[in-house]
Amino acid sequence: MDRRMFLSWIGMGALASSLPMAIAACGLRDSKQTSTSGTFTSVGSVAQLDQTGQLLVTDGVPNPVLVVRQSADPSGLVAVNPTCTHAGCTVQWKADAKTFNCPCHGARYDAQGAVIQGPARRSLKTYAVQIEGDQVMVQEN
Ligand code: FES
Repeated sequence: MDRRMFLSWIGMGALASSLPMAIAACGLRDSKQTSTSGTFTSVGSVAQLDQTGQLLVTDGVPNPVLVVRQSADPSGLVAVNPTCTHAGCTVQWKADAKTFNCPCHGARYDAQGAVIQGPARRSLKTYAVQIEGDQVMVQEN
């Protein structure tokens, strides 16, 4: 076997040994979905959301996020950062009034996160949210 043939065999071996890793890397998408407008990440299951009509995730991405269902209609989902813009308490969803209320100093936000009562002055940050299969997916940015 001459040198050229030997190097050719080595190259084929390296390619063949890296092929399984390349195939595995393509399958690592798990619970992340990328769309043209950004990456959506699972924050929980639809069953979890349906238990109470809301899903609070404090250690997910984006972090933290509160998803609420305002109706059985999938377009009735809203996802906000539940950190009150006044002083950082965690707001609570009041389904009957369809408001996010802050327990610390009384700020209230409407179902889209806009301030309807101070002392907060800025809206809650909102995220795109959708259901895919049995997962509640929130856009990361
Ligand atoms: Fe929410 Fe003050 S921290 S109203």
